[in-house]
Amino acid sequence: MSSPATVTAVEFDPQILRQDFPILQQSVNAAPLVYLDNAATTQKPEAVIEAIGNYYRRDNANVHRGVHTLSDRATVAFEGARETVARFINSPGSHQVIWTRGATEAINLVAYSWGRNQLRAGDRILVSYLEHHSNIVPWQLVAAATGAEVVPIPITEAGDIDLEALAGLLDERVKLVAVNHVSNALGTINPVAEISRMAHAAGAKILVDGAQAIAHMAVDVQSIGCDFYVFSAHKLFGPTGIGVLWGREALLEDMPPFLGGGEMIETVSFSGSTWNTLPFKFEAGTPNIAGAIGLAAAIDYLAGIDIEAAAAHEVNLLQHSLTLAAQVDGLRRIGCPAHAVGIFSFVLEGVHPSDLGMLLDEQGIAVRTGHHCTQPLMAHYQLPGTVRASYSLYNTVDDVERLFAGIHKAKRLFG
Ligand code: ALA
Repeated sequence: MSSPATVTAVEFDPQILRQDFPILQQSVNAAPLVYLDNAATTQKPEAVIEAIGNYYRRDNANVHRGVHTLSDRATVAFEGARETVARFINSPGSHQVIWTRGATEAINLVAYSWGRNQLRAGDRILVSYLEHHSNIVPWQLVAAATGAEVVPIPITEAGDIDLEALAGLLDERVKLVAVNHVSNALGTINPVAEISRMAHAAGAKILVDGAQAIAHMAVDVQSIGCDFYVFSAHKLFGPTGIGVLWGREALLEDMPPFLGGGEMIETVSFSGSTWNTLPFKFEAGTPNIAGAIGLAAAIDYLAGIDIEAAAAHEVNLLQHSLTLAAQVDGLRRIGCPAHAVGIFSFVLEGVHPSDLGMLLDEQGIAVRTGHHCTQPLMAHYQLPGTVRASYSLYNTVDDVERLFAGIHKAKRLFG
């Protein structure tokens, strides 16, 4: 959102989109399902489920290997999916799109392959307090192996990256800045293009974790100007177990393989092996072919949706949540970022987040509770965790009202 005050009415009909998602047409604990855990994973439209089913029903074969028709079909679909992703994020080339198991593996790939070769004792990796553990721990592992140091970038009380503090940290010791595009716990949209400029001006590289941004905005890796961008398909209405590492060609070319095996080699002999070209150098073993096809189907599905209107709709749901929250004594929103996606993270006085989560589940309402894999952020706010409602394009005002009816019920029970 720009800010709650500047939200404008949008023409967007989530009720029509809901029909595309079979899982939403069910009751849970005798109440129509209200799914508000979209930052953990999004639901899948029929088009994605069909694409995966059709692949297994008609085309299943291994890719890049066989001379037979099914292998050819599988290869065309698999490499076509890579092209679809490249267009979706405006990559200059599809060879810069590396398939991984998800955003976490993509970050580990960069930490291992780029980090272990580029970092030395005394170097610094800057990581913000907003990061998911997956954008902290891989850097701690590479720091332990190289003698480099992981240094946190402070955030403001509102939950924005403190750009002045970042500027103060950016000296010649810094080799990498690792930040998310959107915070999974608070919804903060970080100014990643500006942070990329700042990092580059200091001679550092930048990795952007796009896991939470990819479903809420058009992502253009060239206009962001980052060196690496990662995301997972399952947060973009696609399947689990597949994700993307995008990298600058020169950096990827310089990086050694992450995993060894079939597909990533050019030649193998007992006197030594040579590596395949990009992207295959980083894709050892039989890949997740159905996953790539499912991700492409999700991107094709989104092509029929006005993503800006969807994002504005999600922010309106957040705005409505804030209006209703103001009427609940003891409810405190955590963070108040200047720009945010539709994530509403809060605590309710006197009710433990997991108790509230379970009580909501009894009413068919799915939220995430706990530290959201962001323990340093929770420590910053001195909280064990929060309750998080994360909105997607198929959520409705009625979903928000059901959430608040559940919150009021919890207050009556625990009050
Ligand atoms: N990273 C996911 C979340 O925020 C799992 O819930």
